[in-house]
Amino acid sequence: MSEETRILIRSEYDIVTARQQVRELCMTLHFSSGEQTLVATCVSELARNIVEYAGSGEIITGLTRNTDEEGIVIIAEDKGPGIPNIELAMKDGYSTSKGLGLGLPGSKRIMDEFAIVSKTGKGTTVTVKKWKKP
Ligand SMILES: Nc1ncnc2c1ncn2[C@@H]1O[C@H](COP(=O)(O)OP(=O)(O)O)[C@@H](O)[C@H]1O
Ligand SMILES: [Mg+2]
Repeated sequence: MSEETRILIRSEYDIVTARQQVRELCMTLHFSSGEQTLVATCVSELARNIVEYAGSGEIITGLTRNTDEEGIVIIAEDKGPGIPNIELAMKDGYSTSKGLGLGLPGSKRIMDEFAIVSKTGKGTTVTVKKWKKP
């Protein structure tokens, strides 16, 4: 990962900072404004989950590349309670907090790659990537 930035996430204000950071990376890669909005929505949802369910955590953003594409990577990491049933948490409308239950499944749809690792009592790490279409 290059251009790596770590943002401490503890409150609504930090979510705004994470959004701005992601927008800047999107501009670096000349993502369309539509793509920028989608990626910013994703980082908002992941950061909001950190605040809501873990209390605090970190968002790490950066650029990445494979053989012929450049892309954005976002890692949302916390040491909160973890997700006991990931399959359930990934279902549209599933929420333990009267939320819309679309943050995780929506982020998966928005992004090109989505991976989640969570351990009860240890925390959660969500890693997402969006590739720049040539
Ligand atoms: N970082 C996290 N730590 C613990 N649980 C989480 C985390 N992120 C999501 N979850 C769990 O997964 C569920 C689904 O998350 P999400 O799709 O964002 O919907 P919502 O936040 O609206 O409930 C949450 O209700 C919560 O139970
Ligand atoms: Mg959510």
